[in-house]
Amino acid sequence: MSYCIVTGSGGLVGSETVRFFSNIGYTVIGIDNDMRKYFFNTSTQNITNTLTNKYSNFIHHNIDIRNKEKLEKEIFEKYGNQIKCIVHCAAQPSHDWAAKEPHTDFEINAVATLNLLELTRKHCIKSSFIFMSTNKVYGDNPNRLDIEELETRYELKGKGAIDENMSVDHCKHSLFGVSKLSADAMVQEYGRYFNMNTVCFRGGCITGPNHQGAELHGFLSYIVKCIVTNKHYKIFGYKGKQVRDNIHSYDLVNAFWNYHQNPKPAAVYNMGGGRDNSLSILETIDLVNNLTGKKWENYELHEQARAGDHIWYISDLTKFKTDYPNWNITYSVKRIIQDIICSISPEIMTANLQGGIGNQLFQIAAAYVMSRKLNSNLMFKLNQFGGCRQGKHPSTYYSNIFQGVNFINNLPIMDMNIKEMSWNAYPLLEQINHIKNTRVGKSKSICLNGYFQSDWNWREYTNEIKQLFTPDGGIVSYLKNNTDILNRYPELSKPHDFAFLGVRRGDYITYPDVHNPCGMTYYNEGLKKMNKNKYYIISDDIEWCKQKFQGETFVYMDIKEDKNMLLTMALFKNYVISNSTFYWWGSFLSIYDKPRIIAPDKWIFGNSPKEKYWSIYRQDMEIIERPIEIN
Ligand SMILES: NC(=O)c1ccc[n+]([C@@H]2O[C@H](COP(=O)([O-])OP(=O)(O)OC[C@H]3O[C@@H](n4cnc5c(N)ncnc54)[C@H](O)[C@@H]3O)[C@@H](O)[C@H]2O)c1
Repeated sequence: MSYCIVTGSGGLVGSETVRFFSNIGYTVIGIDNDMRKYFFNTSTQNITNTLTNKYSNFIHHNIDIRNKEKLEKEIFEKYGNQIKCIVHCAAQPSHDWAAKEPHTDFEINAVATLNLLELTRKHCIKSSFIFMSTNKVYGDNPNRLDIEELETRYELKGKGAIDENMSVDHCKHSLFGVSKLSADAMVQEYGRYFNMNTVCFRGGCITGPNHQGAELHGFLSYIVKCIVTNKHYKIFGYKGKQVRDNIHSYDLVNAFWNYHQNPKPAAVYNMGGGRDNSLSILETIDLVNNLTGKKWENYELHEQARAGDHIWYISDLTKFKTDYPNWNITYSVKRIIQDIICSISPEIMTANLQGGIGNQLFQIAAAYVMSRKLNSNLMFKLNQFGGCRQGKHPSTYYSNIFQGVNFINNLPIMDMNIKEMSWNAYPLLEQINHIKNTRVGKSKSICLNGYFQSDWNWREYTNEIKQLFTPDGGIVSYLKNNTDILNRYPELSKPHDFAFLGVRRGDYITYPDVHNPCGMTYYNEGLKKMNKNKYYIISDDIEWCKQKFQGETFVYMDIKEDKNMLLTMALFKNYVISNSTFYWWGSFLSIYDKPRIIAPDKWIFGNSPKEKYWSIYRQDMEIIERPIEIN
């Protein structure tokens, strides 16, 4: 078994790391003593509980990382060289707090890092040791750059960004900066001196929906929280024109993963959102006001800046991108802010889940996009399910296809129930707004009830929805780590030009008036048009397919679980599909850009023309006519 140790597992970066590594099949040992409650009075216990409930391969230990003996006895001695990766995120993370208790700060940030390095050297020397450092190791040296004042921000003359060659000397760091720099130097030294695979990621503003934003730490989520809830905010120094680049915790952890797959000793990388994700405080206020339709100005400017605070900081990502070319930023700053707004909104958006996986995906996608458009908090009731003829309970997908979706134990009673008006798509947002506006009182929670089988309401969110339903680490790596499918069909893990054929019969034969299965005229026409030399078939009636599609051109795929079938479908760029949302989604999740998809007209209710059910079809589908035929 492969173990990954995550310190600070209840924190922003730690919890994202737990999710990522749990999802790709590691057993994750989390270490967190909820010290954040002591620092800022914001407990991480809820996050730890959620992770423990959600991931059966996550084991949490309430240990103080200063307690070397306990760490050794309960973790390092126990798992030894089965520990393949250590991600060290536990820390006291604030400048101001460090000045309150310098000893506590230094013991946690510096001494405990040495403890962990030494335990790694003793028990699992080959493990990657990934240290979450900070750009505060450069102290206030970035403030000595040639910076000019513009209308809404400070900017480096000639633009550019800060790389790893910035000096760490002759500057003011703050006590926090020094404790982190000590740890950073020690992590590098264990790499150089003992040839261990150690890396320091010098982070800037890291954020994400799980950030427990506090005034002294976590600027972006805190300011968004203040704006959304009309709270007062204090800006310290630089007229609010100080610039930060923001990175989402997912992109950061994806960088950890890239390093772990190809580690090198004593590596150091600046890691942030880069220029495209940079904002000043004034620009942030403007953007959040824009996104929420507010005119919030409830802030005061203090002349005195925080000790060691940067006027302008944008990370240069060139070194990491050169060493790990597969990595890139996937979360824009606008999307990061929208995520934060949604996650702290008092308004809730949910949907009643019913039907097979294809139906459930449509219901979640509709609720996801409505939550984004209305800035409400998307959550689903754990284990809630309206049932289905064919398919599985949503819990089957919690830890894979639905891993980006928040399922919780209790939802309040919903204020509004939105019933689907017809099978045809209609402007859902308008319907919700209409009901909201004509009601007395404020509707805080909305539940969508229906099938919502269309991307018509959310085309502009296509990429986000794709990411939402793609298991962390990507589909290929999910299938590699959790199934034997790519051992049996290794040709599908590399780029190829084969086609997929999806044949739905099963319950369609039992209920032909509603769905009406496609017949051979359609399939023959689809195959002729597609014109490939190999077709991989997934069907709920594979015996029928064996009779109808014969010869070396056809591969009858033997895959047991629907979630694995769905993810395997995504490995193609050519599709001939029948009238089923299952194949709709398999082709939607395709890992290729612009896949080719042939689909039948008359999707439901027997002889209905394609004009009637136009909304089921995506813009990228080639629709061909099919006769109604029984065979
Ligand atoms: N969030 C940022 O913007 C940012 C920026 C640069 C660097 N960093 C660094 O990234 C790392 C993680 O940051 P984060 O934002 O996830 O912080 P966080 O405060 O959200 O998480 C840190 C976690 O460590 C735990 N912890 C603290 N002391 C502990 C101890 N003695 N024993 C066990 N657990 C303990 C806390 O309870 C908390 O859950 C830190 O090292 C921080 O310095 C963060």
